Amino acid sequence: MNHFHYRDGELFCEDVPLRAVADDVGAPVYVYSSATLERHYRVFKEAFAPRDPLVAYAVKANGNIAVIATLAKLGAGADTVSAGEIQRALAAGVPPGRIVFSGVGKTEAELAYAISLGVHQINIESVAELDMIARVCDLHGQRAAIAIRINPDVGAGGHDKISTGKAQAKFGVGLDAARMLYARAHAHPLIDAKGFAVHIGSQIRDLAPLEDAFVVLRTLAEEMRAQGLPVERLDLGGGLGIPYFNEPSPPAPTDYAAMVTRVFAGDPAALAFEPGRLIAGNAGVLVSRVIRLQPRPERDILVLDAAMNDLIRPAMYEAFHDIWPVREAPDAPRAPMDVVGPICETGDTFARARALPPLSPDDLVAFMSAGAYGAAMSSTYNARPLIPEVLVRGDRFDVVRRRWKVSEQLELERIPE
Ligand code: LLP
Repeated sequence: MNHFHYRDGELFCEDVPLRAVADDVGAPVYVYSSATLERHYRVFKEAFAPRDPLVAYAVKANGNIAVIATLAKLGAGADTVSAGEIQRALAAGVPPGRIVFSGVGKTEAELAYAISLGVHQINIESVAELDMIARVCDLHGQRAAIAIRINPDVGAGGHDKISTGKAQAKFGVGLDAARMLYARAHAHPLIDAKGFAVHIGSQIRDLAPLEDAFVVLRTLAEEMRAQGLPVERLDLGGGLGIPYFNEPSPPAPTDYAAMVTRVFAGDPAALAFEPGRLIAGNAGVLVSRVIRLQPRPERDILVLDAAMNDLIRPAMYEAFHDIWPVREAPDAPRAPMDVVGPICETGDTFARARALPPLSPDDLVAFMSAGAYGAAMSSTYNARPLIPEVLVRGDRFDVVRRRWKVSEQLELERIPE
């Protein structure tokens, strides 16, 4: 459920008309609903209530500090994959004790930073990374809490580019390596080996591969304990899909929780999750203005002021985002249109033959379900400045990232003598 709905023929975010935001801040603009963010966090957290897991919001989905702060106030932790994301989490008020640091390419400087902060857990993805952590701990006399991210050889996810759990993926270590690494981590006086982590993909619509991966994780934990190595924590990653309106609904968090509860029944480990899309995806829209309509013999082309640099998911993953007119047109005849942005490549196409009501220059449309991996993946391609982000709460809205100026980008560059 989300808080975007029509009222008197106009599309609202909570009690704010999107038109008012676009008129005030300009388009294109990302608009987020704090009520939806909070609801998604609570639904997820409450589904697991008896186990009281750490829900570490995956900052990569939407790293705006106002978004993270909204969740941090409810007790969310942060799953981070760079020193930059750790800084964002801290700036948003997430305590280090609720920060998880993941990723295959953590540098020594990033590891030293995370260790100096005393983050909750570093998820290790290779032998070399464990060695690097050991070196940093020895050098500074600091302790590090770690988990080993396993690669369970289970594929899942909405697109090949976001599947992470197969053996040939760059993520995690195989089970033999995980056993060896865990024992080695335990043997190090400054490393606290807490347990294991897994994350097999994103936009997962089926519980079966998740269950397969979790069974592998539980079996490994039991095996380690049988060898006298305690396993206190299991991090089950993120990945649960959301409805993008054109596909069968993915499992509800309660179904997911029922499966997890069954798989880990009787296991004493503290559980953690790293949901990103599930929390932020349907909590945000991208509002864009129509520049013009180009009549074509086959079908018309709708040119918007938003482009692939603002929302790259359709170009990169053939992703579907529903497009709603900001002024409701329930009875208007719909005609198929190609929806494109102004960028100079054919990839800058949001949708082909999308059935839309009549639209004219200056009309507004909203790309739905754009709260996750929308603004976070945007760029300045074609010298288009990053667009603003707005957070709505009830009947008020705040600009939580102002529009960038091209002049600010130019200030970073210089022409050598
Ligand atoms: N934990 C780890 C280790 C991850 O790699 C990811 C996402 C998550 C958690 C959060 O996954 P989620 O709950 O959001 O599915 N840019 C792509 C999605 C990439 C996901 C990368 N990893 C997209 O726009 O679909």
